[in-house]
This record gives sequence, C-alpha cells and structure tokens, in this order.
Amino acid sequence: MDHFHFRDGALHAEDVPLAAIAEAVGTPVYVYSRATLRRHAQVFREGLAGLQDPHIAFAVKANPNIAVLKVLADEGFGADVVSGGELTRALKAGIAPGGIVFSGVGKTHAELIQGIEAGIGQFNVESEEEGFELARIARERGREVACALRVNPDVDARTHEKISTGKRENKFGVPLDRASEIYAAFAREPGLAMRGVAVHIGSQLTDLEPLETAFGKLGALIAELRAAGQSVTHADLGGGLGVPYRRDDVVPSPADYGAMVARATAGWDVRLSFEPGRVIVGNAGVLLSRVIRVKRSGNGPPFVVVDAAMNDLARPAMYGAWHDIDAVAPTGERALAHVVGPICETGDTFAMDREMDALAAGELAVFRTAGAYGATMASSYNSRGYVAEVLVDGNRFAVVADRIDPHAIMNAERVPEWL
Ligand code: LLP
Repeated sequence: MDHFHFRDGALHAEDVPLAAIAEAVGTPVYVYSRATLRRHAQVFREGLAGLQDPHIAFAVKANPNIAVLKVLADEGFGADVVSGGELTRALKAGIAPGGIVFSGVGKTHAELIQGIEAGIGQFNVESEEEGFELARIARERGREVACALRVNPDVDARTHEKISTGKRENKFGVPLDRASEIYAAFAREPGLAMRGVAVHIGSQLTDLEPLETAFGKLGALIAELRAAGQSVTHADLGGGLGVPYRRDDVVPSPADYGAMVARATAGWDVRLSFEPGRVIVGNAGVLLSRVIRVKRSGNGPPFVVVDAAMNDLARPAMYGAWHDIDAVAPTGERALAHVVGPICETGDTFAMDREMDALAAGELAVFRTAGAYGATMASSYNSRGYVAEVLVDGNRFAVVADRIDPHAIMNAERVPEWL
C-alpha cells in the first residue's frame, strides 16, 4: 500500500497535489512519500515479528537520498552499504555505525580503512583476498573487526540475469564448498572477529523458493562450521524481496517472507540480519514528468515524448523493466501509446504499445514504483543534468536533492591550456 492516490480527480502524494510539486520544482522530479516509507518499514518489521531481535539494514543503494535514510534511521533501521560514499551518507543520516554492514566485492583499501575508522558493525567479506587485506589493516591499527563471510550458494534466484547474484558464475561471495576452510583461515587472523555468514542471491525475487533453498544451504554451512569448532553467532540473509510493478502483480508479502525465514532458520541460534532495499522504497516513490509533445507517425500509436528519460530512470532501458504510467489528472480516456524520453537512442523507451491514460502535450504523468533504483541510477547522459528529488510529509513537501543543471556539471570540466 502506498500514499499516492487520486483526490478530486488529481493524483496526490499524501495531501500534496503532484501538480503543485511540478509547479514549484519543475519536472522531471522524483517524489517520495514519508508515510509510505514508514509504513513499509513497519510492515517489514512486523513480517519478521516471529524472529528473535532481527537487525534490519536498509540497502542504501536502492535509495541513498540522505533524507530518505533519515526517515528509515528514525524507524530504527541500520544500513547495508557498498561504498565509502554510501557509508558517509548512512552516517550523515544519523545511522549508528554499529548498525552498518559493509558489503561488496570490490571494497578498496581506502574503503576498508574508512569502515574500520568509522567503527561499523560488520564487514561482509566476499573473498580470501579481501579478508586477508582487511585483517592486515585492522592489525596495523590494533583493531579487531567483526566479519561475516559472504557465500555464493549457487542458487538460481529466477530473476533478471543482471540482478541475479547467487549463481556460481556470479562474482559475489566465496564458493560454498570452500567456505568452511576460508572461515577457519579468517578465524585465525588476529585482526578479524569472525561472527557469521551472509548470503544474497538477487533482487526483485517474486518466488520465495530459491531464497529458502539458499537459506537451507546456509544453515547446513553453519552446522558444518560449528562442528569444526567455529563460533557462529550471526547470519545475514541479504535482501531481494520483490515488489509489484504492475497493479495486478502478486508478490510474496513481508509476512510470507518472515514466515519462510522463521521456518528455514529454526534452531540456528544466531542473530539474523536483513538487507531489504526495493521492498522498503520502491512503491514509496514516483517519477513525475511532463509530456513535451505527442508525435504521431504512421498508423501506429503515437509517441508520447516526456521530459524524463533513460538518464533519469534507467530501469526500462537497462532491464526492460515495466513501470506503470498514469496521468496525474486523468480524463478517463484511454489510448495506446509509445512512451519515450528525449534522448537520442532507441533504448530511451519507457513503454511500447501501452494501453494507458490518454496524454496530451503539457500534461503530467507519473512512473510508479520509482523509489528504488531510480534517482540513484541517474546519469547526465545527453548533458541533461541530474533530476531533483522531493519528500512529502502530509500537506508539506521539501526538495531533498536539488536539480543539478548541466552548467554545474560543465563547471567541473577543464580544457587544459595546451589544447
Ligand atoms: N544486499 C546486497 C548485498 C545487494 O547486492 C542488494 C542489491 C541488496 C541487499 C538489496 O536488494 P533488494 O532488497 O533491493 O532487492 N538496479 C537493479 C537492482 C540491483 C540490486 C543490487 N543488489 C534494479 O533496478 O532492479
């Protein structure tokens, strides 16, 4: 459930008409609903109510806006970060260092140091090479850092191939059949405090079965590690829960997920962590855009050219992803349309042959479910600048990320004097 709804024929975010935001801030603009963020955080937490004191670390990559992170920090969430930049954002948003988990296959030397110095709660180590480097850095500083070993369970998450992470051929984690040996080697390192294992098999999972299979393998590994005399007190089950992108999509609820987790982890006797991203923020945001013109060509549906493009919302171009598109002030008339952005490549297409609200030049439309992996994946391709972001709270709203116009980007460029 979200808080984007029609009132008197006009789409609102909570109590604010989207047209008022377009008027004040311009378009394209991402609009987030604080009430929806809080609701999703609460529903996710309630879904895990059957577990003993779970730790929820929001996957910052899904929406790193500092105001959004602050809303989630206020809900008691920690953070899952994958870069020094994300770590800095999480701290800026007021997330306690102890609640931060550092994931990622390519943490640099500087990022490992940054994580240690910040006193983060856990490193999810993804390779032998990374673990030994981390141990060396920690030892040099007389520190011992809490670590989990991320394993690759070789499970097909049955999602888009570009966002599947748990197959043997994916770059993530260490192979399950080497995990025990690597864990033992790390446990011997004075700089590392090995406390558990981690797994994350992919994103936008609409079927719980692959997750349950992966968790089963993780449980077997925990038993194997303990049998070998290792201490295992924590297990990080990653993120991945899918969201409905189409109005009638059926996806597992956080309660279904929580029940499956309770079943799969019964008897593990560990503190569980979770790294949800999309399920928290996806439906808490829309991308608000204005129709530039409607171009008719040939006999087919018209091209509705909007002012948002693939640089603002990359998912359709990148993964062929579907986002529902609705008029902000629908007339009731429906029509077939191709919805495209202004960028000069055919990939800049949001929808083909879509039956949707009829739209005319100058009218506003939203791309739904754009709160996750939306603004964060923006680029300035075609010198279009970076899209603005707004957070709504009841009847008020604030710009939480300024639009960065192409001039600001050009100001960072230099022509050397020898040219
Ligand atoms: N933990 C780790 C280690 C991850 O790699 C990810 C996502 C998450 C948690 C959060 O997963 P979520 O709960 O959001 O599914 N750009 C793509 C999604 C990439 C996901 C990458 N990893 C998209 O737009 O669909």
